[in-house]
Amino acid sequence: MAFFRYLIILPLIAGCLLPSGVQALWPIPTTLETGLTTLKISSAFYFDVQVEGAPSDLRDAVAQSQYYLENDKLGRLVVGRGANDTAAFATAMTLSKLTLFLANGAAVEPISSEAVKPLGTRSEEYALVIPADGSAATLTANSTLGLYRGLTTFNQLFYYYGGVTYTLLAPISIKDTPAYPFRGLGLDTSRHYYPVSDIQRTLDAMSWVKASINTFHWHITDSQSFPLEVAQYPELAIKGAYSPQEVYTASDVQYIVQYAAARGIDVMMEIDTPGHTAIMAAAYPEYVACFEASPWAFFSGEPPAGQLRFALPEVANFTASLLTNIAKTLPSHYFSTGGDEINKNCYTNDHPTQQQLKRTGMTLNGALDTFTQITHGALIAQGKTPVVWEEMALDWNVTLSNETIVMVWISSADAAALVEKGFRIIQAPSDYFYLDTGAGEWLGDNPTGSSGPFRTWSEAYTFDPLANLTEAQYELVFGGEQILWSEQSGPQNVDPIVWPRAASSAEIFWSGKQPTGAALNVAEALPRLHDVRYRMVQRGINAIPLQPQWCAFRPDACDMNA
Ligand SMILES: *[C@@H]1O[C@H](CO)[C@@H](O)[C@H](O)[C@H]1NC(C)=O
Ligand SMILES: *[C@@H]1O[C@H](CO)[C@@H](O)[C@H](O)[C@H]1NC(C)=O
Ligand SMILES: *[C@@H]1O[C@H](CO)[C@@H](O)[C@H](O)[C@H]1NC(C)=O
Ligand SMILES: *[C@@H]1O[C@H](CO)[C@@H](O)[C@H](O)[C@H]1NC(C)=O
Ligand SMILES: *[C@@H]1O[C@H](CO)[C@@H](O)[C@H](O)[C@H]1NC(C)=O
Ligand SMILES: *[C@@H]1O[C@H](CO)[C@@H](O)[C@H](O)[C@H]1NC(C)=O
Repeated sequence: MAFFRYLIILPLIAGCLLPSGVQALWPIPTTLETGLTTLKISSAFYFDVQVEGAPSDLRDAVAQSQYYLENDKLGRLVVGRGANDTAAFATAMTLSKLTLFLANGAAVEPISSEAVKPLGTRSEEYALVIPADGSAATLTANSTLGLYRGLTTFNQLFYYYGGVTYTLLAPISIKDTPAYPFRGLGLDTSRHYYPVSDIQRTLDAMSWVKASINTFHWHITDSQSFPLEVAQYPELAIKGAYSPQEVYTASDVQYIVQYAAARGIDVMMEIDTPGHTAIMAAAYPEYVACFEASPWAFFSGEPPAGQLRFALPEVANFTASLLTNIAKTLPSHYFSTGGDEINKNCYTNDHPTQQQLKRTGMTLNGALDTFTQITHGALIAQGKTPVVWEEMALDWNVTLSNETIVMVWISSADAAALVEKGFRIIQAPSDYFYLDTGAGEWLGDNPTGSSGPFRTWSEAYTFDPLANLTEAQYELVFGGEQILWSEQSGPQNVDPIVWPRAASSAEIFWSGKQPTGAALNVAEALPRLHDVRYRMVQRGINAIPLQPQWCAFRPDACDMNA
């Protein structure tokens, strides 16, 4: 209920339209007032951190912000890249500091502690005021996390031409707070391995869109490889990783979790069970049914076949222990146990499973229920909230704790049935948000096969998280994410396949609507997304172009009826 209030459309300043020329901000803030005065950054500009005992990650964030302010050197996306703005420079006032305050009574905690608090209890809002007369700009928030969000907005406001860093929009007044608490990006590191540096770069880019993407959903293992070192079960990675080099060590994981948290991002790890586990057979052959059975398509969604023998008590025990040993090393309150695409055929002729069912008189469904009680019970005992894919709630009759968060993936149409059952949901529907599709089928002998159409940024941007839900159900929508499955992706293409496309959901789930109260609109968004993309390129991300450069410099000139 805590964040329901964000969904109420506030009465806004009458007649306030998004000023033309506001091409900079992504995601668009809750409220925004701008003027028409040019304001330059002084050569003596500094960040004045008026936070008693400022934590080191806040100081690092300020230093990073200063670095971007000096080094982005992004020319305005207009013909001439700002050459015409120079006339205004001579008389423009200069801004010499941004003062950061925490609101009275706000506790001073590191960004990395604020970032991993339970959803709905994080304070992400901030207020940013930049006067036109050169007097100090101010950034105020109730937490260091809010200050961090505000710093990213501040950086987005400035352009560069001929040695001058400036905005044309002073005075500027922004109040900003997210519409939904969960805003994720999913990455599968099993089908292909991504070195730590590629994950770091992806986390950086997530943080630039105001860290509006505040959750890294790390689908770390799957049937093809198990690249995670688990101290208690070392054989899983020794035998299940593609190579000894393609492993996330315990210290890699801690490094990534810390790196993310300092950027306002929570890491929600997923160990998909009991399906998507074939490669565990390399270390534990007795725990896996139908391993590499052929034809794989009868037993599994993808090669190789193989799923945990979840009916066996020792497998439930092992899985509970595996999940909790991993989860207890992570600060996040959330842990995904997956649960998608469990194939019943895998167990039909699996002797250990059938024997166990006969002995206990249980059905396969009953056994899955027991397995879920044991594995989820162990996570809940650790203070974690289980997260599952939609089949666990819709296709199987298993009892899930009322705290369980369910992720929609098969179709956007499935959200309604989940909230009908009272579940809190995360929207990751493949018909809008999958980043992997569009490259054709990857099966060796099926040259004309399809993995589904490419989902464009603009199609993703039209997603309505509340479609077909009743107002009383809105509070069950925690947010959503775009996700990259890695059958045909790796470190070579992660930038272009993700960026700037994944900024679509960032705006849907942070802004929800335009500052005017109007619905988000693709034509309005396009010039701002160009801005995101050009700034990402300046900072070293290989984000793909959205249109010919001719169009990027001429907003609306390439519209259908222009
Ligand atoms: C820039 O200034 C030149 C000369 O003053 C003018 O012809 C041109 O239209 C201006 N361009 C833009 C994009 O305003
Ligand atoms: C701080 O929190 C209070 C109470 O929720 C809110 O009214 C205020 O706007 C917040 N301040 C900022 C700067 O976000
Ligand atoms: C799981 O196995 C461990 C070690 O064999 C044992 O100590 C523990 O009691 C078992 N737990 C359950 C729930 O069966
Ligand atoms: C689901 O399982 C419960 C017992 O665990 C049973 O009472 C209920 O009838 C089952 N529902 C369906 C639709 O099979
Ligand atoms: C789940 O149930 C418990 C006990 O009835 C209750 O305290 C809690 O608020 C519920 N949680 C949700 C998310 O509904
Ligand atoms: C909402 O319902 C309409 C009408 O039944 C349907 O066309 C549309 O696909 C649904 N949208 C979602 C996201 O479920």
